[in-house]
Amino acid sequence: MAQGVTVQGERVCLCPFEDVFWTEGLDWYNDPEIIALTSDDMNPLEEEQFRAMIQMDLDNAQSMVFGIRNESDVPIGIGMIRSIDQVHRGCDLHITIGARDHWNRGYGAEAIGLMRDYLFQCLDMHKVISTPFANNGRMVRCLEKCGFQKEGVLRDALWVDGRYIDVVIMGVINSDLPHTSADRS
Ligand SMILES: CC(C)(COP(=O)(O)OP(=O)(O)OC[C@H]1O[C@@H](n2cnc3c(N)ncnc32)[C@H](O)[C@@H]1OP(=O)(O)O)[C@@H](O)C(=O)NCCC(=O)NCCS
Repeated sequence: MAQGVTVQGERVCLCPFEDVFWTEGLDWYNDPEIIALTSDDMNPLEEEQFRAMIQMDLDNAQSMVFGIRNESDVPIGIGMIRSIDQVHRGCDLHITIGARDHWNRGYGAEAIGLMRDYLFQCLDMHKVISTPFANNGRMVRCLEKCGFQKEGVLRDALWVDGRYIDVVIMGVINSDLPHTSADRS
């Protein structure tokens, strides 16, 4: 999928994944709290692993990778769209707001809303899903604020850090929303 798209919101900007996101991103992904909320492997990523993982999505026709900046142009996170399916017009949404002092300030919800609107308006998607771990209440709440509905729970879906965990399936359909707000450039 074409990379390098910029989508400007009120406070948050989805921007091309460049320079600073390669270095900051590794630190964000290796925060133990973020690992525990997002990964089935508790080991930190080596730099080559992180680069290979991001590059695979940058090169994948079914993926998009965004850097996320705040209103002060500070890099604050990474947004990822995977499994873009043109037949069924669906895809998966992933996000990391990296620094913990940027959590709970509305950035995540705005960035998710911008990705959602971009997917509906510009890529003609019909449905976007996201699958947070069930213990990630912040992500579940954030998705609900963006119109996602809880569609089910996959019980004991993943073996993580010595135990099974549940995964929540959250989804939003374009017709769920009265209007969208992406401004593409
Ligand atoms: C999940 C994440 C994207 C959310 O972004 P954010 O900027 O922190 O979220 P927002 O400030 O937009 O919204 C958070 C909401 O969750 C609520 N919340 C915070 N902690 C919560 C918890 N433990 N349980 C339930 N709700 C919680 C907040 O009160 C807020 O809701 P409100 O606006 O109704 O008060 C971000 O925290 C993050 O990247 N976390 C680490 C990585 C991660 O979990 N990624 C998702 C993987 S699926």
